[in-house]
Amino acid sequence: MVILSAGAAEELFKNHDLSFVDRFTNDSMRSHDHYTVSIAFGSYNAYWRTLRRICASELFANKRINNTVLIRQKCVDEMLLWIENEVKKSTSSSIVVRDFVFPALFNMIGNLTLSHNLVDPQSEMSSEFCTALAGFHESVGRPNISDLLPWLRRLDLQGIRKASDYSLAKAKEIISAFVKERVIEREIKHEPSSEQKDFLDVLLDYRGTGKDEPAELSESQVTVFLMEMFFAGTDTSSATIEWAMSELLTNPDRLKKIRAELASVVGANRKLQETDIENLPYLRAIVEETLRLHPPAPLLIPRKAVQDTNFMGYSILRNTQVMINCWAIGRDEESWEDALCFKPERFLDSDTNYKGQSFEFIPFGAGRRMCPAVPLAHRMVHLILGSLLHHFEWELCEDGGVIDMRETMGVTAKKLEALQAIPKRKTA
Ligand code: HEM
Repeated sequence: MVILSAGAAEELFKNHDLSFVDRFTNDSMRSHDHYTVSIAFGSYNAYWRTLRRICASELFANKRINNTVLIRQKCVDEMLLWIENEVKKSTSSSIVVRDFVFPALFNMIGNLTLSHNLVDPQSEMSSEFCTALAGFHESVGRPNISDLLPWLRRLDLQGIRKASDYSLAKAKEIISAFVKERVIEREIKHEPSSEQKDFLDVLLDYRGTGKDEPAELSESQVTVFLMEMFFAGTDTSSATIEWAMSELLTNPDRLKKIRAELASVVGANRKLQETDIENLPYLRAIVEETLRLHPPAPLLIPRKAVQDTNFMGYSILRNTQVMINCWAIGRDEESWEDALCFKPERFLDSDTNYKGQSFEFIPFGAGRRMCPAVPLAHRMVHLILGSLLHHFEWELCEDGGVIDMRETMGVTAKKLEALQAIPKRKTA
């Protein structure tokens, strides 16, 4: 079943969320039984509820996010420095924007969860982790004949399962080394004081008391949980920033407008900070308009009917795969005027937002399986995008100011051709 309109999405999320709350499991998600311990691909059960509750309160709650402002600021400062150094040392003045945004996001999540920088654009080991996660991403998003004809699974005709087995094992191996190191550290030293605890400590300290809760999380469960934060948070946020930059570079008037807003609110003499975001309505409108036209998860994460359900007059059988096409809903002329035009202004003075209540605009999904990380993603995306725009003046290197806006198809819809642009240090 495919949901293609705001009306059908509203009906599903408001009246049938529980009937379609499970995830559809494809063959790649079965690699190393990943779906049985996954928050994003797992079933709606007591284990999933435990993971959701832990990350909602320990990672994505506003209080936690406020305590980690400096971590994100440090990662952004490093990113701006990497870009400056790259421009200085390279013969060409242009850079591939995602090569700098992606590592910054990786390090934000690395520092928030493990207190470690995981990536440096110059380092070999970090690219191993990125390659492994990208490989798993690709396998999960590739159309696979084994999912249509499950009795062909064991033949793995397209080699997708072999690839996902390999990438997932590699990514887990890298995160697992951090977990093991911490376990040993904690055994040798005293327990960290409560102020020093990061998300990894919280997971290792977890003790369930409720009837259905796990008593504790095993090292392997902790590893997968952490890995999924990178999996779910980096590609989506990086794609959003790259699309926003691409739209702005082909819309010079809008680029001028956001520069003017940043100049007047932040000014030339300081860096953008997270506290500025609430005073930058045009920046927020740009992010919203980008997510409307280019939702990073165009079909959200596919769901599955838990039971036979009568939905809008149709009999939907148990186990039916359900896709919610938020890409099509965001471009539907019934809901949006000039639906295909990039017009951030439509979000100024509008009540429409991505918190899961405006069904014509659901880039983070809605209902029980909605993205739990909206408050964190909101900060990271605005901080990085705003800082790139505030710190540099950007120009296109392509002739005629045209950018290839084709997208890849997979779990995340990224730009097919990476955006390449020229960052110029701003003159006062
Ligand atoms: C612009 C950034 C992001 C976008 C657009 C986005 C979008 C989404 C979407 C569409 C879903 C599926 C919702 C559904 O099925 O109804 C999802 C789920 C999820 N997201 Fe995000 N996300 C973003 C950033 C993040 C970040 C930064 C993290 C973590 C650090 C994260 C963690 C998760 C998790 C754990 C789930 C699975 C939830 C579940 O199945 O219960 N996301 N996200």
